[in-house]
Amino acid sequence: RTVYVNGLYLPEEEAKVSVFDRGFLMADGVYEVTSVLGGKLIDFAGHARRLARSLAELEMKNPLTEDELLAIHRELVARNDLVDGMIYLQITRGATDRDFLFPENAEPTVVLFTQSKPGLADNPTAKVGIKVISIPDIRWGRRDIKTVQLLYPSMGKMMARKAGADDAWMVEDGEVTEGTSNNAYIVKGGKIITRHLGNEILHGITRSAVLRFAREAQMEVEERPFTVDEAKAADEAFITSASAFVMPVVQIDGVSLGAGTPGPVALRLREIYLDEMR
Ligand code: PDD
Repeated sequence: RTVYVNGLYLPEEEAKVSVFDRGFLMADGVYEVTSVLGGKLIDFAGHARRLARSLAELEMKNPLTEDELLAIHRELVARNDLVDGMIYLQITRGATDRDFLFPENAEPTVVLFTQSKPGLADNPTAKVGIKVISIPDIRWGRRDIKTVQLLYPSMGKMMARKAGADDAWMVEDGEVTEGTSNNAYIVKGGKIITRHLGNEILHGITRSAVLRFAREAQMEVEERPFTVDEAKAADEAFITSASAFVMPVVQIDGVSLGAGTPGPVALRLREIYLDEMR
């Protein structure tokens, strides 16, 4: 694989980042994951916009223009013959002597690499759906910033795995915030319900596109919090993310939703999303 590090395209074995990098020492960095289908970047502009916002919220300088970023994404797709998969991008505040204060003149560290996932859009899991468990949301209060602090989401996925499930929905004050790496939705009486935007959740790029397509298709959307009990009593549920697109959820804490199979709204939105974005 060829990866990108600070202006250079290198074989992955030769790519290096300092041990003093603040991303490594303090999780002082942000990231984006953009899907690639048939060699085409999915919603690149959305990811570039959110990246700029995450950087600004952390007072980190944006080292690349959107055009430069796009060129790097395309170059990596070409150099790695990437057909279906993901591009991971990470920007950290850079390497300086360890200090809690932000350094004044550190140069950001920019890393991008590809991950091949052949047949990503035909993921067979979409036909059976996933099972989720609920866990407390104990993350920090700025989940709208896409930082590389992913320890709790990793622990959440491990808890799900141990419980025989696929993922976890995080719960705060009785209400579902989001999945460990995706936004969460329920459907009741044909209405799509998902938490409103705020500091409590990541503003998903897939979420934004899916809600737009849903409204265009005359589906009713309500952006508000929902409880775990409400979710368990829903007709269906699903998640969205750049890598999962729209993925049906068929079980919450062992309780099957509807017929225990992927619901029609989730399947229809998945189809619309993939048709529109590819
Ligand atoms: N995760 N919520 C969280 C906590 C996320 O980490 C993600 C993305 C999303 C969905 O956002 P988007 O639709 O823009 O991908 C919501 C990425 C895919 C990841 O960590 O791999």
